[in-house]
Amino acid sequence: MEGPHIIQLPKFLDDRGNLSFIEENNHIPFKIERTYWIYDVPGGERRGGHAYLNLQEFIVAISGSFDVILHDGEKEMRFSLNRSYYGLYVPKMMWREIENFSTNSLALILADDKYDEKEYIRDFDQFISSKYGR
Ligand code: TYD
Repeated sequence: MEGPHIIQLPKFLDDRGNLSFIEENNHIPFKIERTYWIYDVPGGERRGGHAYLNLQEFIVAISGSFDVILHDGEKEMRFSLNRSYYGLYVPKMMWREIENFSTNSLALILADDKYDEKEYIRDFDQFISSKYGR
């Protein structure tokens, strides 16, 4: 399984304004079944605080900036997203939180499946035990 990593997207710089895009199974390693976005986050708030059993995601800071903190069960990794032409690939079974949202930031998230609450692990200790059978 591929670990979390930043993926740089195509960008067409143009005097009329820049353009970037994402193709499923090309720039990101899955088929897109759902897109959602997080916006109007009040200063100091955090989102996430869960892992997914099987879901993979790709997170882009379409506007502004924020930090994605991932925990793979052993170590924590922090990714600062602040450009609309790259994003973070998040494999399944990663504890993830998003924080440090700048004013008017917009997080676009592509996922490889429909919303299903049964996919969520919302307790960190349960995440660790599901991961290692502890
Ligand atoms: P949640 O994923 O818990 O938010 P975050 O991880 O950003 O803190 O989603 C919050 C609520 O929104 C969740 O309880 C149900 C709803 N929701 C949907 O109905 N569909 C979706 O695709 C998402 C992401 C959330």
